[in-house]
Amino acid sequence: MQDFNNKVAFVTGAASGIGLAISKALLNAGANVMMADINADGLQAAAKSLGFDDSRIGTVVCDVKNAESVNTAAKATIDAFGKVHIVMNNAGVGLGGFPGSIPLEDWRWITDINFLGVVYGVEAFVPLMQAHGEGGYIVNTASMAGHIAAPGMAPYHATKFAVVGYSEALAQELEKINIGVSVLCPTWVKSNIHNTASKRPSADPESPMPNSKVYQAMKNFVENGISPDVLADLVLKSMQAKRLYIFNDPEAKAFIAHRSKAIMEDYDACLEDLGLS
Ligand SMILES: NC(=O)c1ccc[n+]([C@@H]2O[C@H](COP(=O)([O-])OP(=O)(O)OC[C@H]3O[C@@H](n4cnc5c(N)ncnc54)[C@H](O)[C@@H]3O)[C@@H](O)[C@H]2O)c1
Repeated sequence: MQDFNNKVAFVTGAASGIGLAISKALLNAGANVMMADINADGLQAAAKSLGFDDSRIGTVVCDVKNAESVNTAAKATIDAFGKVHIVMNNAGVGLGGFPGSIPLEDWRWITDINFLGVVYGVEAFVPLMQAHGEGGYIVNTASMAGHIAAPGMAPYHATKFAVVGYSEALAQELEKINIGVSVLCPTWVKSNIHNTASKRPSADPESPMPNSKVYQAMKNFVENGISPDVLADLVLKSMQAKRLYIFNDPEAKAFIAHRSKAIMEDYDACLEDLGLS
């Protein structure tokens, strides 16, 4: 997508962090934006902070773990702006824990938001983008945690690996109907992601954040992460360049190379065992 002017974008998780920054970047580039989030008050405050009038910006309360809610938000976007060209499936939450101790209701919660939330966005909006015939673009927010895994955050990694694989498949499918796909894979970004585990179903209302070293480390990394505005500018440039993967961190590059090397070593060892090398 070369030109954002007069395009219509739908952004989830738009009340905070990366979604808010992407909404701002798109508005500044001339797009009209429907901002969607589960946090109604935060959404209103975020939209107001951007300072655009109602002809350019809309808000819709939407829970991405509920397909009906996403469909309703899609309809609200068409009602407000007539069509949609850009979909940012960005809303997400964090969850860690030691395997064997993570409540299944929490697993379902993070999977429903981080992975199925993306699927619902694609299923709702692809037919709408296809219908107007002007082409479109989908950006799914995964994470560097969708390419490399570390101890402590298995549910988060599992959902983000799913988003990367899904986006790779989507890119090949949707190219045929002139819809581009990128998958956003940042490392740490300044946002509120480190607090989202407080919303997990098993949270203790008196003390909702898990008291573990993983969350303390995450808070520290996020607070020292890159600016969401810098990342948002990179997202728009990457859409113009039609990059499938969007990365930001020079240091994390080596981790992906390390993972690929480990895969190849086991691959070669298996082929050797089979007498096929
Ligand atoms: N911050 C980081 O370091 C980082 C790094 C890599 C990837 N990410 C990913 O970026 C995305 C955005 O997160 P962020 O860092 O801006 O965090 P954030 O917490 O600042 O923003 C996330 C937004 O999503 C909304 N949200 C949560 N559950 C929702 C639901 N069910 N339906 C609709 N909206 C919902 C929240 O209300 C919030 O406004 C997430 O997918 C996250 O996994 C973040």
